[in-house]
Amino acid sequence: MPLQFVFFFRPLKPPAEKTFSTLSNTRAAHYHGVAMKTPTSVVAVLAALLLPLGVAAQAPSLAIHVDHPTAKVSPTLYGLMTEEINYSYDGGIYAELVHDRVVDSSWDGLSHWPSVTRGNSIAAVSVDLSTGPSAAIPRSLKVSVTSATKAVPAGVENDGYWGIPVRPNTTYSGSFYAKTDTAGVPVTIGLVNDQTGVAAAEATVTGLTAGWKQYTYTLKTAAVPVTSNNHLILTIPRPATVWFDLVSLFPPTYRGRKDGNRIDIMEKLAAMHPKFLRLPGGNYLEGEHIPDRFDWKKTIGPWLDRPTHMSPWRYRSSDGMGLLEYLQWCEDLNMEPVLAVYAGYSLAQQHVDPGPALEPYVQDALDEIEYVTGSTETRWGAERAKDGHPAPFPLHYIEVGNEDEFDRSGSYDGRYAQFYKAIKPRYSNLQIIATTPIKSMTPDVLDEHFYMTAEKSFSMANHYDTQDRGGPKIFVGEWATREGDPTPNLQAALADAAWLTGLERNSDVIVMESYAPLFVNVNPGGMQWPSDLIGYNALSSYGSPSYWVQVMFSGHLGTEVVSSTLANAATRVYESVTRDEKQRKLFIKVVNGTSDAQPLSIDIQGAGKISSPAKLVTLSGKTPNATNSIANPNALAPVESSIAVAGPKFKQTFAPYSINVLELSY
Ligand code: AHR
Repeated sequence: MPLQFVFFFRPLKPPAEKTFSTLSNTRAAHYHGVAMKTPTSVVAVLAALLLPLGVAAQAPSLAIHVDHPTAKVSPTLYGLMTEEINYSYDGGIYAELVHDRVVDSSWDGLSHWPSVTRGNSIAAVSVDLSTGPSAAIPRSLKVSVTSATKAVPAGVENDGYWGIPVRPNTTYSGSFYAKTDTAGVPVTIGLVNDQTGVAAAEATVTGLTAGWKQYTYTLKTAAVPVTSNNHLILTIPRPATVWFDLVSLFPPTYRGRKDGNRIDIMEKLAAMHPKFLRLPGGNYLEGEHIPDRFDWKKTIGPWLDRPTHMSPWRYRSSDGMGLLEYLQWCEDLNMEPVLAVYAGYSLAQQHVDPGPALEPYVQDALDEIEYVTGSTETRWGAERAKDGHPAPFPLHYIEVGNEDEFDRSGSYDGRYAQFYKAIKPRYSNLQIIATTPIKSMTPDVLDEHFYMTAEKSFSMANHYDTQDRGGPKIFVGEWATREGDPTPNLQAALADAAWLTGLERNSDVIVMESYAPLFVNVNPGGMQWPSDLIGYNALSSYGSPSYWVQVMFSGHLGTEVVSSTLANAATRVYESVTRDEKQRKLFIKVVNGTSDAQPLSIDIQGAGKISSPAKLVTLSGKTPNATNSIANPNALAPVESSIAVAGPKFKQTFAPYSINVLELSY
């Protein structure tokens, strides 16, 4: 499909700023006094005017009562949301280097598989719909070489995801399925530089026959320079026809998992201390049409059994990131899955009526839960063991669908209830998340999504302060301040942090939150949805300022919210305070969204002795537009410092445009 469809066809999408009916309940700040709505500069002018009249302006202050906890902090508050969007898996965290490793029947061209010819060699490349390596993959790449020699071989090449990264002294593991009409023809595989044509590594595979078979190879580089402008070639030295499919190449992966995840991106996620992974979407769960949904049974087992599928983000997913790979990703980062099950609604307003028609989908969800959690004695637990993971995975949350408020048929009430009634009696330990409010019952948890401008996020910092505690728990399963492209800038990060103080303060009711989208491949054509938390190309990745906010907040969580009152501070100054009684730690988060430094007199009551020095972590920049990028990945990063604390009462000034975490021991 032409690339412009990515941009022009997709927007069935909600607008940049998406709010829900609950947003109309936005209340005036009640934690923060009226005076905080006055900018610091205005406060100074007022002070100058009032002083001669003998009226003293009050100093900005933050009063904290450590001995007055107001809410428990959800230990699962910070997590991740993921889906195949912006080349998140293929061309992203899933470390496969070959683009379109499975030949797709719907191709109108072979954009990533041109022929390789040199000198007088001749090769023609086409898609052969009559033969493939398996029933699920019934087609292949036909490479017909009519003229070639050892000195001038011919074949096919792949350009990877905007290049193939080559690093020195590195071992790459590869494989492909192939058959030939000329038994014994050798295939040479090389990692070749686009400009010089020089191979950084080469290997030759022999033994091809008339039948489909898998071959493996290893490419080892020597002391070559680091580059991403490389491609993979598969050539033969004499006339013959070779059919290929599932051509694959992996670099070293996180924790050495076979066919696993990219190391740099996984390390960035680990630094976020995530407690859960909401998977597999998002719109990716739903698909544009019902057959395009995330059909989990077609994503498990050998690659040969995975037919691949079209994602709603207008490119085909290899399904290399299948259900088990998601679960292993969770395992590697010590997170629990929040498993979203397909619930009978796809984006093009296709739905399945509750009742008998929905039953197969409900059964699929039950099977999926069994695949994740069942013992090896169960049908699907045994399947998981066969796939290489006998131990069950922990699971506490199931989400029924995604954003079902967009289903104009109004069928969600009945669909949710049907899933609930089938799942809950069998798995009473599971919390079942609804994606929109329903009338027939109270769901265990409600998933609310917010895509906001900075202005909106700031104004929403108190949104949950008066949330009804008698209703369902809330999962803020998707949210972002969307300013900055491809990744959010400092203004967005400040607004994110302001919003997060509200989630944290109310985390007795907000059980989980996850920013979305998580990833973007920053190459031209890589992004379908700005702005995204972590950006990358083939070689490197970087965290946006919003990413650093998540790292800072989740790394200093605490176990209880304590009472805090901010007074006389500027507009756009926000705070939340938590403690960890066991560790005797206090975490004070202060967001200064203004261009002026914000001094605060901090008064900590009920803590006894406060140890000095304290730790201060600050993320700040000179302008709200300041940002990180692939070219300048570390322009903004948190800075840690030690500050002397005189006792329970001390003064601290917070930099302009800054997000701060003050960690004190008591
Ligand atoms: O995060 C991008 C998309 O926004 C998600 O796929 C969808 O759930 C939401 O509308």
